[in-house]
Amino acid sequence: MEKPPASARRLRIAVVGLGGIGGAAAGLLARTGRYDVTACVRQPLDRLYVEGPEGVFDVPLRTFTDPAAVRTVDWVLLCTKTHETGAAGAWLKKLCTPATTVAALQNGIDHQERIAPYVNGAAIVPVLVYYNGERLAPDRVRYRPVSANELVTPDDAGGRAFAELMQPTPLHVLTSADFVTLKWRKLLINAAANPVTALTLQRQAVLRRPDIYALCLDVLAEAAKVGRAEGAALADDEPQRMMTSLMTFSPELGTSMYFDRLAGKPFEVEALTGAIVAAGQRHGIATPLNGVLLALLRAISEENAKTAR
Ligand SMILES: NC(=O)c1ccc[n+]([C@@H]2O[C@H](COP(=O)([O-])OP(=O)(O)OC[C@H]3O[C@@H](n4cnc5c(N)ncnc54)[C@H](OP(=O)(O)O)[C@@H]3O)[C@@H](O)[C@H]2O)c1
Repeated sequence: MEKPPASARRLRIAVVGLGGIGGAAAGLLARTGRYDVTACVRQPLDRLYVEGPEGVFDVPLRTFTDPAAVRTVDWVLLCTKTHETGAAGAWLKKLCTPATTVAALQNGIDHQERIAPYVNGAAIVPVLVYYNGERLAPDRVRYRPVSANELVTPDDAGGRAFAELMQPTPLHVLTSADFVTLKWRKLLINAAANPVTALTLQRQAVLRRPDIYALCLDVLAEAAKVGRAEGAALADDEPQRMMTSLMTFSPELGTSMYFDRLAGKPFEVEALTGAIVAAGQRHGIATPLNGVLLALLRAISEENAKTAR
């Protein structure tokens, strides 16, 4: 691996949220030896073990558990769940200056609006995540690439800078001139499977029931109409394509909402179904099915939030 010249200052990167996604990104960036990588965590650790397609490696990792102890950095990779962004705000406020760039590796379509209140004017790069990440233990994660492009950003200055940052890692970044369409496609793939598996407490096999399949098509048709109003170039048969794609997944797979519900945790309701309903309201498009899902999901997630840490 090509090393930077000795005179070059190593970029300082802080990863906030060392779960499945953040753990893989932190480990792969630290392994390059090019960057000064730290992690902002709730449980300290000294080394991180990363399982990937080429086997397992481990890297030493400096971690912080107190926002007061961190200094400003060049890059932040924000990798918490979307509803944990407010709690991560204390980290962001200490890490960011207007010269910092925050890459938000989170689901949803409203990265900018969600994160801007905490980053002291730092640039924000929305990032769609296509690799599968799982935290196996506090100091161990596994990642699996599931597409040729593991990460997708807009094709602008921030997106290109992020692609350059990740270039020495195996995580390939696609910069897209039509990010709006891609972020709505990603939202759609989550918009049926996550709510239905979480509400029924059944894995993706439940999507194969004819009644549930038909419901998902209607939920996605509503969402696609809203996405088109937002400027996404979604085909007329986008809902059918999404369901066909979901049918290629193993019926044994869960979804993140399903696993969070099983664990009694709050889940990403607002960033997924909530974002569809809110965008529908902005455009005067009725979303009654998504509205029903949203009310049911909120009732469970908000109750979980009262009892979870
Ligand atoms: N996992 C995937 O395969 C996948 C795929 C595509 C997209 N995504 C998206 O990527 C984002 C991250 O998902 P994930 O699966 O990596 O979530 P995750 O495994 O739940 O990891 C989130 C991490 O953030 C940490 N965290 C939360 N609040 C914090 C705070 N205030 N300070 C420090 N750490 C904090 C959590 O710490 P604790 O452990 O202490 O709770 C946890 O380790 C989500 O938006 C998700 O939808 C995930």
